[in-house]
Amino acid sequence: MSLSRRLHRVQQQPGSFPREHAEAHEDPAPQPSRLQAAAAQQKPSARKRQRSTTTADPENAFRALKGEAAKKLYDRIGARLNDPSLTEEQLHGIVRAELNRVVEEASIPLSSGERQRLNDSVRDDLLGYGPLEPLLEDDSVTEVMVNGPDAIYVERDGRLEPSDARFSSEQHLRLIIERIVSRMGRRIDESTPMVDARLPDGSRVNAIIPPLAFNGSSLTIRKFGKNPHTVQDLLRFGTLTPQMTELLEACVNANLNIIISGGTGTGKTTLLNVLSSFIPNTERIITIEDSVELQLQQEHVVRLESRPPNVEGKGGMVIRDLLRNSLRMRPDRIVVGEVRGGESLDMLQAMNTGHDGSMSTVHANSPRDAISRLEPLVLMAGMDLPLRAIREQIASAVDVIVQLTRLRDGTRRVTAVTEVQGMESDTVTLQDVFLFDYSAGVDASGRFLGRPVSTGIRPRFTERFDDLGITVSPKIFALPQGGTGQ
Ligand SMILES: Nc1ncnc2c1ncn2[C@@H]1O[C@H](COP(=O)(O)OP(=O)(O)OP(=O)(O)O)[C@@H](O)[C@H]1O
Ligand SMILES: [Mg+2]
Repeated sequence: MSLSRRLHRVQQQPGSFPREHAEAHEDPAPQPSRLQAAAAQQKPSARKRQRSTTTADPENAFRALKGEAAKKLYDRIGARLNDPSLTEEQLHGIVRAELNRVVEEASIPLSSGERQRLNDSVRDDLLGYGPLEPLLEDDSVTEVMVNGPDAIYVERDGRLEPSDARFSSEQHLRLIIERIVSRMGRRIDESTPMVDARLPDGSRVNAIIPPLAFNGSSLTIRKFGKNPHTVQDLLRFGTLTPQMTELLEACVNANLNIIISGGTGTGKTTLLNVLSSFIPNTERIITIEDSVELQLQQEHVVRLESRPPNVEGKGGMVIRDLLRNSLRMRPDRIVVGEVRGGESLDMLQAMNTGHDGSMSTVHANSPRDAISRLEPLVLMAGMDLPLRAIREQIASAVDVIVQLTRLRDGTRRVTAVTEVQGMESDTVTLQDVFLFDYSAGVDASGRFLGRPVSTGIRPRFTERFDDLGITVSPKIFALPQGGTGQ
């Protein structure tokens, strides 16, 4: 008899499948088991111990069975699960063999489909990411956010939505977090309650546990796109326009220094990756990141990643250390994932001293804001520089700022391409070349109808193009028909 039919029969017998079993899903904590319930069915006397009038659906029954199998398995082989000397394949082999033993001992006849499902689902919990597994496999999900065991949200098509997935308990969630973190050779506990890690596929993970996280452990996973967005994708999404792309490609070819500015999750890293794709294949590129995300396609790329200090607080290497080192590595281009500290000064200096064509991103809400953000970041380098000197550094180092914004409709758009022209008295002068046309309004579904349009002004940096023989169509600076779009 199949498991579902058998479960169904068990449920038809009042008291044979107590509600607490039905609700005990993946929780590895001790629970009276479905396996025991089935065994009890064979031994009627044992059934008397637990009585309930509630019926449970086969799905809950399956979860209970699975929870029990997972617990037994964990008791048997838990210590080996985080053994770094075992390969993923070996671990899978051990889990399969032990799980077969557990099912046989419980003497529940399972169809091969049911056995497979049980196997997959227990394996997801013990070796994978439990209830997160399907979300991680779903390519339409770009971000997974866990706010405690009962609240999981995902981002799809730029929009947040709640997910039905649940952890059975805080303990279950912690088990998964510890698995993720320990695979990276890091640990999470009271003394280090916040950790950045990465999944083997490159997805970026942040975990923070109670008491810092008040609602229960929180986990945020920025999924690593298997196929990173390309320039065609960004054109299709309306993030870029063909005219703007032509200009930005010329800027990269002309070795202009570019800063991508935007808020959290606006697509800065993605655009940095796309702009980096314009770097000629003949150049030596060094990328520097806190967590490697860039996926440059060129052949000659050196990827550097910072490292947090170990448990004794030693051995940490920050972006700044790597940036300084990279200057001795004969780079043609330096691409820094994000500047958020004293490395800003080193980056500006590098941009000013022959390493032009460098690129980075900064967290800011407008090009003007990006300039203002860079000032305190430069001060974090600890040099007592006067503000004017900092501004001069910024004005002469940065040529172009590309601003990204996530609009209310969930789309990510370039909302400004701005030239940094220089200084006028104490102010850095900026000139917008493209601006998003908000005046076009929104359609019935709330989607913005506008796009980034030219301001009609030809940036001064195009003189550099002329010197280098780089040509761009004059049309890209033409005002759009029907207005400036400003
Ligand atoms: N132009 C775009 N259109 C739609 N989705 C995008 C776009 N750019 C990036 N995304 C998606 O948005 C998410 C965030 O992208 P990305 O990592 O590039 O943002 P970010 O600004 O670097 O984020 P953070 O501030 O966390 O570093 C990713 O899932 C990515 O696939
Ligand atoms: Mg980023």
